Amino acid sequence: MAQRILVLHGPNLNLLGSREPHLYGHTTLPELNARLGGLSSSLGASLDTYQSNHEGELVDRIQAARLDGTDFIVINAGAYTHTSVAIRDALSAVKIPFVEVHLSNVYQREAFRHHSYLSDLALGVVAGLGPQGYEAAVRFAVQHVQPA
Ligand code: DQA
Repeated sequence: MAQRILVLHGPNLNLLGSREPHLYGHTTLPELNARLGGLSSSLGASLDTYQSNHEGELVDRIQAARLDGTDFIVINAGAYTHTSVAIRDALSAVKIPFVEVHLSNVYQREAFRHHSYLSDLALGVVAGLGPQGYEAAVRFAVQHVQPA
């Protein structure tokens, strides 16, 4: 059975490509998702992506992952990383392994971005590698679910 990976994008990530490109780059969200989809199929895994600007919708999607056979979550919760106990609790409740991704190096930025409600639950954290960080996380996910 192919591994099922869910990539979750939080608020404002729908603006990728035009949003502060010096921080987040020029790749749009559809381009990024297509890249990750291609990578997953080349690795024999299936990939679903979801973006929402709403905390509750992200919680709902994480809860749904418990029932839809998702093996691994890659999440960039955007600003909710630094504020959301609800997203933390949802990830904890479903017990699906996950990696936290940030396009920018949050540790080079404002102090409020240095704290994450997710990191201590995550298997790993990738920050500052741009879209390549998502690719690394997807490769890790495939290996983790079905070690070669
Ligand atoms: C981000 C970093 C967050 O601090 C910010 O709120 C985002 C994007 C990143 O990918 O670098 O929306 O998660």
